[in-house]
Amino acid sequence: MGQVTWDGLFSNQAREIKPSPIRELLPYINKPGVISFAGGNPDPFIFPVAEFAGTSVVLGRRGMEILQYGATDGFESLKDFLAKWMAPRMGRATEPGEMLITTGSQQGMDLFCAALINPGDVIVIEDPTYPGAIHTMRNRGAQFVTVPCDADGMIVGLLPEKIEAAKKDGKTVKSIYTIVNFQNPSGAVLSADRRAKLLEVAEQYDLVVFEDDPYGHLRYEGEHEPTIFSMDETGRVVYACSFSKILAPGARVAWLVGPSELVRKMVLVKQGADICTSVVAQALVAQYCLEGHMDSFLPKILNHYSKKCASMAASFKEHLPPDAEYRVPKGGFFFWVRIPGVDSNELFKKGIERGVAFVNGEAFFANGGGEDYIRACFTFARPSDIDEGAKRLALAIADLKA
Ligand SMILES: Cc1ncc(COP(=O)(O)O)c(C=O)c1O
Repeated sequence: MGQVTWDGLFSNQAREIKPSPIRELLPYINKPGVISFAGGNPDPFIFPVAEFAGTSVVLGRRGMEILQYGATDGFESLKDFLAKWMAPRMGRATEPGEMLITTGSQQGMDLFCAALINPGDVIVIEDPTYPGAIHTMRNRGAQFVTVPCDADGMIVGLLPEKIEAAKKDGKTVKSIYTIVNFQNPSGAVLSADRRAKLLEVAEQYDLVVFEDDPYGHLRYEGEHEPTIFSMDETGRVVYACSFSKILAPGARVAWLVGPSELVRKMVLVKQGADICTSVVAQALVAQYCLEGHMDSFLPKILNHYSKKCASMAASFKEHLPPDAEYRVPKGGFFFWVRIPGVDSNELFKKGIERGVAFVNGEAFFANGGGEDYIRACFTFARPSDIDEGAKRLALAIADLKA
């Protein structure tokens, strides 16, 4: 009597919603003694704590403005800084109406879907891809056409046939979502030729491209590829980047640039979502940027993470069985490892027993697959733990193969 009947009350979306596979692993990963290669977390020991703490002077100077509600599209001095700082990558200084500051890139994706996706509409995604993108897009009712990846990223030559097949099925294809640099999880970089081809296909089928690029600044070797945004002459690309991996994810500040008609719609959706991204967070990040710390800090993290990447490469080479398949990434956060014949869900349990965590491959495939893959993040674990973690992983594999 008087009990709430949740089944009848929950929305269809809430009834269908699945937990984030990575967040669900946290209780296991956070067990004392477990070395975590799991979450895509930056190294907290490299956070610019003193520099960031110093930015709070801006509260004293501009507190009456900063502690007030802010513009939905973002804090002006942060937008101005980003328009200039990003101009070389964007191919030009973008206009204020093309930019939106978001509460993480995660919100950027959500607003993008809210503006474009009706339940049942199709987004073309990479196979594998970032589970957070699958989660958000699914929440908004998207269905997926998946395109496999190789060392050069999404195999865009397959796009026309995949899109045609979906259309034949009566689906409305709206967008292509691609993580262009040091893809999560595969580490691949979409080649310049493929970027051009992807844009060509998007034009042919009148699709909007979501170019997700949280790892693009984290290149440890080689030259940057041009952004798809900079190649686009038809105004159909949204480029999203974030302070999460290059400053601090706790700031929850990210930005996107895109066609002003679409950005305007996203602003309207954001008004109803959170009114504006925390002005306090934006103002501190803006102050940090204006004091010149982005340019001085980035080389430090590149140096720090490239060493960690090399150390995971050396440890994997030494300890993993010879049939383990992976490429050493040239940037980003992740190794994507195939261990033929091993079920990564079982391996995860063995890994926790042995004291090492990673993310099982299945989490990255929207329509199934990836059972013999794992994603290992090299940025978070202590440098001294990377080798021990690789040894434990090898032992867990051996346990399963025994
Ligand atoms: C590819 C990709 N996009 C977006 C995000 C979300 O980033 P943010 O912290 O800016 O919401 C992540 C986080 O790991 C990511 O890997």
